[in-house]
Amino acid sequence: MMPAKSVNASAFREAMGRFVTGVTVVTAMTAEAGPVGITVNSFNSVSLDPPLVLFSIDRLSQQFGPLIRARRYAVNVLGREQEVLSRIFSLPQADRWNGVGYSETSAGSPYFPEALACFDCEAFAQHDGGDHVIFIGRVVDVIVGDPAEPLVYYRGRYNRLESA
Ligand SMILES: Cc1cc2nc3c(=O)[nH]c(=O)nc-3n(C[C@H](O)[C@H](O)[C@H](O)COP(=O)(O)O)c2cc1C
Repeated sequence: MMPAKSVNASAFREAMGRFVTGVTVVTAMTAEAGPVGITVNSFNSVSLDPPLVLFSIDRLSQQFGPLIRARRYAVNVLGREQEVLSRIFSLPQADRWNGVGYSETSAGSPYFPEALACFDCEAFAQHDGGDHVIFIGRVVDVIVGDPAEPLVYYRGRYNRLESA
């Protein structure tokens, strides 16, 4: 059998960058580290019955350990006005939560009331995803905010939706 052709990492990134996404912050309240949060655009829906969502987390992330052990977490969908939250939760800094206001979902996860939507989840499954782990969350509640302009990510940059 012919060995599989290996894809160049920068070409892979460049190609993935052509796939436009929204931006979320995955949050959890953990016993070991208090509130944790990480900016995530690998979010998607999986199943309607039961209602399942997925995202993948880098095994090397500081947030990986607390998140893999969390039984509950929330996925906050950011609006255009929350670009600062995306930056806070994607850049390495000692205390990401310093000065960041949040409420708690009914399951006890931190959520941003100004987010466009929030998916309150219970951990359902975790699957190997190479250098990432794929988290599958069972949605136990949804909070839908005002339909403001979404935060859009394209080619490694924050963007606007022309028609919004
Ligand atoms: C728009 C955007 C989307 C991101 N999506 C993901 C993702 O889906 N999974 C992931 O593990 N990291 C993702 N990251 C990177 C993490 O946010 C970042 O590596 C992490 O927060 C770094 O800090 P940490 O090691 O303290 O967690 C994304 C970053 C940005 C700016």
